[in-house]
Amino acid sequence: MQTLAQALAEKAVPDSLTQLINTLANTSISISQAVRRGALAGVLGTTDHENVQGETQKKLDVITNDMLKDALAAAGNVRALASEEEDEPVICGDSGDFLVCFDPLDGSSNIDINSLVGTIFSVLPAPAGEISEQSFLQSGRKQVAAGYVLYGAATMLALTTGKGTQLFTLDNDRNEFVLTQDAVTIPADTAEFAINMSNQRFWEAPMQRYIDELLQGKTGPRGKSFNMRWIAAMVGDVHRVLCRGGIFTYPTDCKNPNKPYKLRLMYEANPMAMLVEQAGGSASTGYQTILDIEPEAIHQRVAVILGSANEVATCLQYHK
Ligand code: AHG
Ligand code: MN
Ligand code: MN
Ligand code: MN
Repeated sequence: MQTLAQALAEKAVPDSLTQLINTLANTSISISQAVRRGALAGVLGTTDHENVQGETQKKLDVITNDMLKDALAAAGNVRALASEEEDEPVICGDSGDFLVCFDPLDGSSNIDINSLVGTIFSVLPAPAGEISEQSFLQSGRKQVAAGYVLYGAATMLALTTGKGTQLFTLDNDRNEFVLTQDAVTIPADTAEFAINMSNQRFWEAPMQRYIDELLQGKTGPRGKSFNMRWIAAMVGDVHRVLCRGGIFTYPTDCKNPNKPYKLRLMYEANPMAMLVEQAGGSASTGYQTILDIEPEAIHQRVAVILGSANEVATCLQYHK
């Protein structure tokens, strides 16, 4: 079985990007150790700080953010980073080929119940000259790498450098990621969906109708029975979609008029959209392909509908 280093070499990933991916992978191994020790490491519970998203930070949101920040600042090839937990971009050095966007800990509400969490990352080319928020506002198509690490029963890394999506499993004995699934392919059809159903009354009419018709099962317009899953961590739900197909959505809603979307474009939607597209699936807001969005701000939020290509296409028909 190939190690991460061997798999990157086989895909002819340039040295500087390989080095950065190794930094991200090694930091995630340290994060997985903190997550695994849980209460023993004193990492559970909440701080009294609110992040720029208006969320109360969990201790582990802060710890994982600091671990990634320190590692990327020391990496030498990162110009700047943007994080869910940082108000503004953080400059890492005067030179370097890359900008890194990340969600250090996705699924924070799962931490204290020992359930699924992960880290999501997106790598963009660093433009020449001075770095500002503007430098990050590149469409998802510009990503040179994207991935997540899932701290589950096994720690797994999903990675793309634009040549397909691969899954690696952490070998705890060797502290090394090993390629366990090459050329991940999401089945085009599915009978499984993931949505927070408690928001149903707040969705737009097209999503209300799509889910309603899907819930009607065999005798309804869709003519088949669907099953539902919701992990409440995008990493977990997208991982299931990569493994066996499905449609995952966090659609537009009017629960809070100032916040019609939940997921963040730069460090949640874009990296996941690249992983999904590279595995043969699709990712859209309902009205636009996610990877084609020209970002307006680093903390911008978007609606997300992603997964099995035919099912996403069906959902998009309702939005026409
Ligand atoms: P984060 O923990 O990084 O703030 O992200 C949480 C997101 C995402 O992971 C998940 O899909 C969604 O929030 C869960 O939302 P609900 O609370 O509506 O289930
Ligand atoms: Mn959060
Ligand atoms: Mn998240
Ligand atoms: Mn997070």
